Amino acid sequence: MNLTLKIWRQKNASDKGKMVDYQISDVSPDMSFLEMLDVLNDQIITKGEEPVAFDHDCREGICGMCSLYINGEAHGPDRGVTTCQLHMRKFKDGDTIYIEPFRAKAFPVIKDLVVDRSAFDRIQHAGGFISVNTSGNTQDANAIPIAKEAADTAMDAATCIGCGACVATCKNSSAMLFVGAKVSQYALLPQGQVEATDRVLNMVKQMDEEGFGNCTNTGACEVECPKGISLENIARMNSEYLKASLKG
Ligand code: SF4
Ligand code: FES
Repeated sequence: MNLTLKIWRQKNASDKGKMVDYQISDVSPDMSFLEMLDVLNDQIITKGEEPVAFDHDCREGICGMCSLYINGEAHGPDRGVTTCQLHMRKFKDGDTIYIEPFRAKAFPVIKDLVVDRSAFDRIQHAGGFISVNTSGNTQDANAIPIAKEAADTAMDAATCIGCGACVATCKNSSAMLFVGAKVSQYALLPQGQVEATDRVLNMVKQMDEEGFGNCTNTGACEVECPKGISLENIARMNSEYLKASLKG
């Protein structure tokens, strides 16, 4: 395939940035999207120019590092996959592909297609954990019975990889699908109850401080989420937040 790529180039956080056109030829339909960018970068480096910066790590859909807004969609046109799992067979010979960073006030651009998603880390630090005594008195994992439905629903919430596509997709740049998933994975399990009140209050407070917008129930986040995180997690977070506020 021969393609035209229109890629966002931005030298650093303070640079204005602009779209730059690139031509790439002989792209195999079996290449992943990131492999196609690797080939482009080889060509750019050969010409003595600065390669396009983009985030990636596992390239298996599990780490949440890859991002990219491709033709106006977070993680591109496929459903239920991250950018690293997107294949060039989803495009046609002669296509023009627009490639931009995830855009949100709370995710400032660092360079080209790389954005700073450390706001998610700070939300996690505010309460996305359980405290366990690991001093040799740890309880056997099977000592606390958990209903299968609760275990399955908690596991579904725990599949969130923290990629930020929900924020990039939302017209309000809301992080509520991400935070809802992180609150839910503990709220559904007995191990999460001890710190449940502080967890939801602190995580929501941090989310607001980071400058994410509010949820207006549009549902775009659920559609673009590569892990199929359900809107039910936002409803669960809201009910956990109400319960915690009444206790406070
Ligand atoms: S909820 Fe989905 S889109 Fe949002 S961070 Fe988690 S995996 Fe990514
Ligand atoms: S690079 Fe790890 S999820 Fe895409």
